Amino acid sequence: MRRPLVAGNWKMHGTRASVAELIKGLRHLALPSGVEVAVFPPCLHITQVMTGLEGKSIAVGAQNCAVEPVQGALTGEIASSQLADAGCSLVLVGHSERRLILGERDEMVSRKFAAAQSCGLVPVLCVGETLEQREAGKTIEVVGRQLGSIIEELGVGAFVQAVVAYEPVWAIGTGLTASPEQAQEVHAAIRAQLAAENGEVARGVRILYGGSVKAANAVELFRMPDIDGGLIGGASLNADEFGAICRAAG
Ligand code: G3H
Repeated sequence: MRRPLVAGNWKMHGTRASVAELIKGLRHLALPSGVEVAVFPPCLHITQVMTGLEGKSIAVGAQNCAVEPVQGALTGEIASSQLADAGCSLVLVGHSERRLILGERDEMVSRKFAAAQSCGLVPVLCVGETLEQREAGKTIEVVGRQLGSIIEELGVGAFVQAVVAYEPVWAIGTGLTASPEQAQEVHAAIRAQLAAENGEVARGVRILYGGSVKAANAVELFRMPDIDGGLIGGASLNADEFGAICRAAG
């Protein structure tokens, strides 16, 4: 009943020329109709991607949005209203690279989540533990806190129009992947936490896995009952590989 979603986060990669090549590759892909596909280019390239993918059913999202929903005096930031105006339908919030490198805290993440929704964008809330936290047995606690802060601020109903992405920090860009069982355990805990508030919301929300997903490991991960697709970093920069991951979700 949940339509799988495979999303490519291009992170801080790309030039106009390399993006043009990637668009060409994406246009040629045969994508499964039952899978929703999205890409998240750097903001600078959103318009190029939007134009280049016209007529192809691939949604375009942004990697971040400002805490303020509407345009105004906030140098260097981009408002959700501006992203919506540019044609974006989704936005990542709380990616671990922003939490850890830029110091984004739960409170800021929930403001961004709310800002995105107020402009009609679907926020993709990223949660996940560091290796140290996993080794200390704190995975569920950490992920539960990140998720809980949104529930507390905005209510569980906010997840009717949102996606959650579980991305263990130790698996991002490292070539290490959580085993399907390890990922499933956390996905199930996320769903259970939402279910404790509202069963219907919990059953409907898509929970993506992210962390070194490739065509070679995607099928096994996507087979797990609470994994509804993936948030793909490095492998999404190769159109053929990304296409194969999309097909693995179909
Ligand atoms: O947003 C995507 C994740 O950070 C995963 O990145 O596939 O390069 O490990 P990765």
